[in-house]
Amino acid sequence: MTETTGAFPDFPMARGCPFQPPAQYAELRAEQPVSQVTLPSGSTAWVLSSYELVREFLADPRGSADRTLPAYPSMLPRQPVSSAEAKGLLTWMDPPEHTTHRRMLVNEFTTKRVAAMAPHIQQITDSCLDEMLRTGGPVDLVQSLSLAVPSRVICELLGVPYDDRELFDQRTNVILNHQSSVEERMTAWRALRGYLRDLVAGKVAQPQDDLLSRLVKKYQEAEIFDLETLTGLTNSLLVAGHETTANMISLGTVFLLEHPDVLADFKARPETAPQVAEELLRYFSIADYSTSRVTTADIEIGGVVIPEGSGVIALNSAANHDETVFEKPTEFNAHRDARRQMAFGYGIHQCLGQSLARLELEIVYTTLFRRIPDLRLTVPAEQLRFKHNAAFYGIYEVPVTW
Ligand code: HEM
Repeated sequence: MTETTGAFPDFPMARGCPFQPPAQYAELRAEQPVSQVTLPSGSTAWVLSSYELVREFLADPRGSADRTLPAYPSMLPRQPVSSAEAKGLLTWMDPPEHTTHRRMLVNEFTTKRVAAMAPHIQQITDSCLDEMLRTGGPVDLVQSLSLAVPSRVICELLGVPYDDRELFDQRTNVILNHQSSVEERMTAWRALRGYLRDLVAGKVAQPQDDLLSRLVKKYQEAEIFDLETLTGLTNSLLVAGHETTANMISLGTVFLLEHPDVLADFKARPETAPQVAEELLRYFSIADYSTSRVTTADIEIGGVVIPEGSGVIALNSAANHDETVFEKPTEFNAHRDARRQMAFGYGIHQCLGQSLARLELEIVYTTLFRRIPDLRLTVPAEQLRFKHNAAFYGIYEVPVTW
């Protein structure tokens, strides 16, 4: 049953089964695909829960991504982040500012450019697995592999010292965890920003052969260089670049271990890794409500007028489980064509790093089960701590052995 404390059902909604989206999403889609919910703050927001409406809305230029707007649907007590402190965060920008900065970055993440990183990602994955095999089980897969691979990949790509990972991992966790207090989140936010500002300033003083140094040069040549903007862009890339992929590695691995038939199929045909990864992305849709916006005009959608200045959550997980687009959506099916899934969002903010994320997932799942075919959990899956209270769904620790 849907919990209700205000006039509308409470949001976020709880997952009954850790492998399924909240059951209420399907009810909303069937009964009222444009509906309203009550947020933890007590304010209300609109929720879109069908594939068609989520797509239509995310393509609409009258939806602002500016998270400093009071109506932006926040799952947390609002952080007093000023516009200056949010400067350069790509996901928070609207055009024309967003267009300018996205254009500066897009070349770094083309499918071709990312494909060239495959040997290096393979090397990083192998070295993590070498280490796991050397120490022997049990180990926490999250630290040994799930976080280690994407963190190293994004650090090396950007030119962020990997040895500093504890510093930004811890702060990222505090910022994304719904249980952190506003003060804790603001302290972590400012500390992370300070660290990244110093890092970018270092690239200005002493450019190296990395993405950040290339960006600094590009911005200087275009005469739009600004330290705060570059700091924010670095923040967007670093946080989005490791935390999300790490959660998908953990969830995908646990899902496969818990579904021996699917795993056997995958081990027998590792060349299906792209389809398996795509279906896992659809199935988990871990950045479920990150595709939220504020209306900058009255918008008629699905026969309902959403007034100007309203918060709208375009639930990509609900869209990815729409039975009119994905047959038997609650079933995992690596043979379906999942490429229309929207776990990476849709429209102008669609994930910039999606090719990189896909490649990392494909390489990690394949290599993990090839090199450690008898991998197993040391505790029943029900005992794992799933991230029900964080901005991105995932698992805190995954104890494994072999
Ligand atoms: C499985 C992993 C990932 C998932 C599920 C994911 C999901 C998403 C989603 C849903 C958005 C859209 C947010 C919105 O509409 O407001 C987004 C944007 C973004 N993602 Fe990812 N992401 C992943 C991995 C990555 C990686 C590896 C990078 C590496 C750089 C990255 C960089 C970004 C950036 C920079 C944006 C903002 C794009 C913009 O605002 O124009 N993401 N991601």
